[in-house]
Amino acid sequence: MTKIVQPSVDPFYFHYPSGATLVTSHAGGRSNLMAVAWHVAISRVPPYYAVSISSKRFTHELIVESGEFTVNFVPWEERELVAKVAACSGRDVDKFAAFQIETEAGSQVKAPVLKAAFAAYECRVAGHYPYGDHDLFVAEVVAVQWERSAFTDDGRLDLESVSPVSYMGEDRYVTAAQEVYLDRGALVGEALEIARRR
Ligand SMILES: Cc1cc2nc3c(=O)[nH]c(=O)nc-3n(C[C@H](O)[C@H](O)[C@H](O)COP(=O)(O)O)c2cc1C
Repeated sequence: MTKIVQPSVDPFYFHYPSGATLVTSHAGGRSNLMAVAWHVAISRVPPYYAVSISSKRFTHELIVESGEFTVNFVPWEERELVAKVAACSGRDVDKFAAFQIETEAGSQVKAPVLKAAFAAYECRVAGHYPYGDHDLFVAEVVAVQWERSAFTDDGRLDLESVSPVSYMGEDRYVTAAQEVYLDRGALVGEALEIARRR
């Protein structure tokens, strides 16, 4: 491939697809949720997860105040909900009431968990780092809620029963198209054997 080189990230600003999650928050008697595509696992033991949230978002205010949030992983059926909660602010609209969103209580945090989520992390903020126009909230995952029927017996997400929503940028959404199993050890073994014989 012959690539164009330039200093600005703009041509590849949308490094997608990226899972479109719904982040809920709660403080001062108010609950809110927003779409978040910039999120990442940081550590497995102990579990840490990070979300990148602009200080313009009402969610940012609630997370700073409470030190808590939940990350909800939702199926393809919820794609329009993702778009709707991303199109307005909790400063102006009670999104839970407006979009008739069903919730369950968090077990460790006051932020609610979405009934429609196939899995959700309950998170407590461990670090808050501003970078450019977004702030990174790194949080300890203090509980996980997950829907048994969405997972296979060996603990993988069952793509025949659930298809996560992913974001492509510019109001475009996709879902998983293919799944393959690649035996890393066997692949590297074969490659090294071929290299050895060369
Ligand atoms: C699919 C999608 C993903 C988004 N991801 C992020 C994100 O990772 N961080 C962020 O600050 N805003 C993100 N946004 C924008 C917010 O969801 C949007 O501004 C929202 O209305 C903020 O709501 P709030 O003010 O109620 O918190 C995203 C928007 C869309 C459509």
